[in-house]
Amino acid sequence: MHKMKVCFESVILVMLLSLVLSAEEAQKPGFRGKIIPKPQEIQQGDGMFTLTEKTVIFVRPSTSEMKAIGQYLADFLAPATGLKLKVKSPWLSKLSGIVLEIDPSRKALGDEGYVLTCTQKGVTITAAKPAGIFYGIQTLRQLLPVQVESRQQVEGVEWTVPCVSIKDQPRFRWRGMLLDPARHFLSKEFLFKYIDIMAMHKLNRLHLHLTDSQGWRVEIKRYPGLVEVGARLPNFSGKTGEGWFYTQDDIRQIVTYAAGRYVAIIPEIEMPGHSGAAQDAFPEMLCTSPLRNSLCIGNDRTIEIMEGVLAEVVGLFPSPYVHIGGDECNKAGWKNCTRCQTRIRVEKLKNEEELQSYFVRRMEKFLNVNGKMLVGWDEILEGGLAPNAVVQSWRGVKGGIEAARAGHDVIMSPTSHCYFDYYQGPKESEPRAIGGNLTLEKVYDYEPVPEELTPEQSKYIMGVQGNLWGEYVATGSHAEYMSFPRGSALAEVGWSVREGKSWADFYDRLGTLLRRLDLMGVNYRKPDVMRVK
Ligand code: ACM
Repeated sequence: MHKMKVCFESVILVMLLSLVLSAEEAQKPGFRGKIIPKPQEIQQGDGMFTLTEKTVIFVRPSTSEMKAIGQYLADFLAPATGLKLKVKSPWLSKLSGIVLEIDPSRKALGDEGYVLTCTQKGVTITAAKPAGIFYGIQTLRQLLPVQVESRQQVEGVEWTVPCVSIKDQPRFRWRGMLLDPARHFLSKEFLFKYIDIMAMHKLNRLHLHLTDSQGWRVEIKRYPGLVEVGARLPNFSGKTGEGWFYTQDDIRQIVTYAAGRYVAIIPEIEMPGHSGAAQDAFPEMLCTSPLRNSLCIGNDRTIEIMEGVLAEVVGLFPSPYVHIGGDECNKAGWKNCTRCQTRIRVEKLKNEEELQSYFVRRMEKFLNVNGKMLVGWDEILEGGLAPNAVVQSWRGVKGGIEAARAGHDVIMSPTSHCYFDYYQGPKESEPRAIGGNLTLEKVYDYEPVPEELTPEQSKYIMGVQGNLWGEYVATGSHAEYMSFPRGSALAEVGWSVREGKSWADFYDRLGTLLRRLDLMGVNYRKPDVMRVK
């Protein structure tokens, strides 16, 4: 027993050492290029390009969006390097430096793909769309020494980029994370930081669960009571506080900050279940039973209020998607509610499942008229799916398969591989979590397209999302601990091709990424010792 322990410990030591060494090696020219998520094609050349105070960032065409991307890069580089690079546009053809160029003929790269070429003279990033340029910059960032992530000036580092040729584009268009400020409020400043971490990983959707029975976190001007009452309720830890909601101005700032990092904010206004906070503000949305959780669908006033809420949400969030929840709706209240039973009779519905579908369809109609697509958890399949709805599969993958077969777009986030509120190591040594067990390796192993689907049906799988529910996530720092590096693994699942996937290779690259996260001040969970398969 004792011998085994010693042996085990020395394996740990060697593994830890190899993690450190690989990170050190990454600092040597020629060894860099440990990028997460892994690019599609990468060819290493000889030599390197060195950033100096003379380096200029050129953007073309000279649109405000391209200038903003150029300035984002300059602002990113400035603190660590001390370089204040100028962003110019248009440029004379032969200048060297960092060239960011839209080439509309590069349609094959899609909306988010890019080509990055580094020679000893400079770096060129070309893409069909600005998002592609932005992702090329995220790759360039990981080609630079890790110290570039420092927010203080670092002396004695040569800011070199290895000569390289990279062609890259994502496998999936939806690469998301969910945060739950309803259970424990998360500050706007934390969301900015989280969006920055997501952007480095080329994650592009931040789903905010803004309402639940423990809190209503978004200001709705026409119904001020929602935050006056709903943001003052005890949170999941039983505490109350002031200002635990986002004002509409906060939302605009979050949306703008995220848009500058090519992250869309997907608002979730949960209904008809998980709606206790809304009912506390508007008791007329309780059933005659009256059970706090599910909105009374028999009452026209419920429809009117929720449409009023969505009318403001639609104006606040530019994303084409609005999530209406739809999960875990307790239907017992409806069974004993005279108004809901009347609705079932009048609308000739079979049961309470169909009553939920009736409500979801009405919400969908409202959203579609306002130019938005409805997203809901897979329970929205139960009483018949609304015509244009997007389904987020969480109770396994069954819902995703059914929706894709019916020709509906799908987001995959099964609890088995995507629930970041689960433990990520032995319970005894981890902070309190909701339950389950989801290791980093298991996230990395996830394959989002179920085997049961034909190639044609598979096209409806829009991508993947990691869900960090907030019952036991009381602070931003703890959200970081639960999200990364599992989110790093998920980013690779969402972006990189399936072929050649290797846990050992991912783990090797992860060492470098974690050093970057250290410098960014991210409280990630240190991975367990490597277990090569
Ligand atoms: C869910 O986790 N209840 C969607």
